[in-house]
Amino acid sequence: MRSVIDILDLSVAEIAELLATANDIIDHHEKYENILRGRKLATLFFEPSTRTRMSFEAAMYELGGNVISLAGGNTSSAAKGESVADTIRVVSNYVDIIAMRHYIEGAALAASESGTVPIINAGDGGHCHPTQTLADLLTIYREKGHFDNLTIGLCGDLKYGRTVHSLINAMSRYANVRFILISPKELRCPAYVLEGKDPTSFIETASLEEAMPELDILYMTRIQKERFDDEEEYLSLKDSYILNNEKLKNAKADLKILHPLPRVNEIAVEVDDDERACYFKQTLYGKYMRMALILKLLKEKDNPKKESLMPADAIISDVKCSNPKCICQSEQELKTRTIIRNGIRRCVYCEHEI
Ligand code: CP
Repeated sequence: MRSVIDILDLSVAEIAELLATANDIIDHHEKYENILRGRKLATLFFEPSTRTRMSFEAAMYELGGNVISLAGGNTSSAAKGESVADTIRVVSNYVDIIAMRHYIEGAALAASESGTVPIINAGDGGHCHPTQTLADLLTIYREKGHFDNLTIGLCGDLKYGRTVHSLINAMSRYANVRFILISPKELRCPAYVLEGKDPTSFIETASLEEAMPELDILYMTRIQKERFDDEEEYLSLKDSYILNNEKLKNAKADLKILHPLPRVNEIAVEVDDDERACYFKQTLYGKYMRMALILKLLKEKDNPKKESLMPADAIISDVKCSNPKCICQSEQELKTRTIIRNGIRRCVYCEHEI
């Protein structure tokens, strides 16, 4: 059963196919209006969401399908201690496809092992968020017309910002893409995201002002309050970057400003009127890419090829993953599986070093 847990589960060719479908939906919406009549999507959100959940639901309705929804883990039997695996096994009986957001890293991969319908990762803790990346890619494609030869500044919380991790993975596959990683030292991008990629493509800096004149894309992010164990640390970092009109004076005229949203204060409201601001369009593009993805996964479900997202070289480990935020810590039956990547043994669920 084909699921999408990580953006790298989709090849570059498949991303191109999804972009083409999304663009066709934008141009010929009427063609798609009843295409999924009788099919059901479940949105299981164990963590707050506005855009991702509502755009998945709007996507399914616009394709003629139906939605059942669980918004908020405390209204489900997860609050009584039911595991992710059991929840997914049960919900698979009711629907054709599931979009799940969970606060635990690796929860979506674990879900894909127990479900009998496609699982779409709608965000797993601070790990990854592939469908946000699909929204980002359509925005970049429609605004810039290409993915190659771009300098992308990613600014803010690069440690816990799952959208950043997925976007780096996606954009690293195109030619001559440079990344300027702009963050305080405490919130640098995790090593597992950068491993195996060309190190000359990445520059790390704490200065948004210095990076600004070079950027084709500026991807602002919120400092992810909910991921901090230490509130004092959050308070000391929360105002690290605030983009305003003054800071944009040195930017390129054709810069594009993206943000996965929600924003707190990292983009001043005055920037919304700048024609380079794309973050509200980005939320609409997210709906079209989610429509394209649901269509693709249900088409493949109707013509199944047996497929597991568990890497073939993953082995069961005697040592449990020690990341307290990993799914291996909370699912009783789940065995830690590891892979060796660039000489480092990592948990397949959360990618932390074992
Ligand atoms: N970008 C994003 O994931 O937004 P929500 O948390 O509102 O879904």
